[in-house]
Amino acid sequence: MTKKLFVKTYGCQMNVYDSARMADVLAPLGYAPTDGPEQADMVILNTCHIREKASEKVFSELGRLRLLRAERGQPMIIAVAGCVAQAEGEEILRRAPFVDIVLGPQTYHRLPEMVAQAARAGGAVLDTEFPPEPKFDFLPAPQADGAAAFLSVQEGCDKFCTFCVVPYTRGGEYSRPASAILDEARELARQGVVELTLLGQNVNAWTSDGWGLGRLIREVAAIDGISRLRYTTSHPRDMDDDLILAHAEVDALMPFLHLPLQSGSNRILEAMNRRHDRDTYLRLAERLKIARPDLALASDFIVGFPGETDADFADTLDIVRRIGFVQTYSFKYSARPGTPAANLPNQVPEPVKEERLAELQALLLEQTKAFNQACVGKRMSVLLDRPGRRPGQLVGRSPYMQPVHVDDVGDRRGQVVEVEIAEVHPNSLKAVAIAAERKRA
Ligand code: 5AD
Ligand code: SF4
Repeated sequence: MTKKLFVKTYGCQMNVYDSARMADVLAPLGYAPTDGPEQADMVILNTCHIREKASEKVFSELGRLRLLRAERGQPMIIAVAGCVAQAEGEEILRRAPFVDIVLGPQTYHRLPEMVAQAARAGGAVLDTEFPPEPKFDFLPAPQADGAAAFLSVQEGCDKFCTFCVVPYTRGGEYSRPASAILDEARELARQGVVELTLLGQNVNAWTSDGWGLGRLIREVAAIDGISRLRYTTSHPRDMDDDLILAHAEVDALMPFLHLPLQSGSNRILEAMNRRHDRDTYLRLAERLKIARPDLALASDFIVGFPGETDADFADTLDIVRRIGFVQTYSFKYSARPGTPAANLPNQVPEPVKEERLAELQALLLEQTKAFNQACVGKRMSVLLDRPGRRPGQLVGRSPYMQPVHVDDVGDRRGQVVEVEIAEVHPNSLKAVAIAAERKRA
C-alpha cells in the first residue's frame, strides 16, 4: 500500500538534494511524495540552522503539525532532519516531545531503520551521529525529477569562518570518490537529465585521487547527454588555476559562478577568518572574466558583523560597485550559538544592520536590474523544464539562472533551446525561440 510522504525543505540546495534522497530511501517502504502535510503519513522537516530566523521557523511549523495530526485523528510520523536537528536534537525533543524522529544530515540512509524503530518504540528516535560510513554508499540510485538535477559531490567544511555553523552541523570536509560521482551523473543522464549542478558546502575544495574540481567538471561534461554544468557553492580560497581554466575550456560549464565574498573590508574579512582579502577577490573576479568573458558573478554578503564600522561597510559598497554582481543574497549578521563571532564585543545594533542591509540591497538590486536589461536583444540558451502559466508557454533558466518564459514553443519540455531575450518582466525574462539545439535523450 502506498503511504504519503511530505518533505518540507528549508535553506540551501544541499538540503534540496538531501530531501530528494530521503524520498529515494523511503520509496522501497511504500512512501510516495505528496505536496502538503494534510494527507501525509509521514512529514519530514529538512531544516536550516544558518541564521536564527531559519532555525525558529522549525518550532512554529512543528506546532502546526501537532495540531494537524490531532485534528485529523490519523497517524502521522513527524521527523526533523537537517542542520537544526544536528545542532539542537536534544532541544527539539525537549521543546517538541511529540516529534517521532530526529536525524542529522549524515544519517538519513538509516531512515528505514528509524521508521521501524519509531513504530515499535512509541518514543522518539534520535540519530545525530557522524557515522564512519558515508551515507552515499547506502543510498539507492537517484530518481531524476525533470531535466535539471543536483548531484552532491562534497560535504562539510574545514574553513571555520567565525560566523558560520556549517563546520559544526555538517562536519569536516568530505569528498565523494570520482567514480561514484560519475556513476550517479551517468545514471541521471540516462534518465533524461541534461543539466547537472555539482553541489558542496565547499564544492571547489572537492578532491579525489589527485583530481580537483576542474578535472571532475571535464569528465562530467564528457558524459553523453549532459550539456549544461554548474557547481555551487565555492570558496575564493579554493579557486585553483585548473578550475579557472575549466571556465575557458568547457563549453558546458555555464558562465555563472556563485562566489561568496561576505564583506569588502580587509579588517572584517580577517575577523571573519575568511582567509582572503579584497584584492585577492578582485583579482580572482578579473581572472575568471578573462577565462570566460561572458561570465557573471553571484555572491553572498553579511552586514553588521561584530565591529563593522561605517568605513568597513563603505568598503563593501565600493567592491560591489567595482565588480558588479548579477544575483546576490545579503543578510544581517545573526549571532549563532557556539560560533566564535557570537561572543565578540562590539555587536552592531539592529537598526544599524537594517540601514546597511537596505543600502546594500538597493545597490545590488540596481545591478541585477541593469544586467537583466542588458540581456534584451541577446541570444542565449534556456533549458525549458517547466510549463508556464499560459497554455503553450514553457519556462526555464538562462545560463545566468534567470527564469525565462517562451510562448508557443511547442513540445520542447526538457530541451535546451536557443532564444532571444525580448522583454524584462518583474520576476522573469520573456524570450522568443530561435531553434532547437539538443533533444532530450
Ligand atoms: N549570519 C548571517 N548570515 C550568515 N551566513 C552564514 N552564517 C551567517 C550568520 N551567522 C550567510 C553567509 C553564507 C550564506 C549561506 O549565509 O553569507 O554565505
Ligand atoms: Fe561556513 Fe565559511 Fe565554511 Fe562557507 S566556508 S560553510 S561560510 S565556515
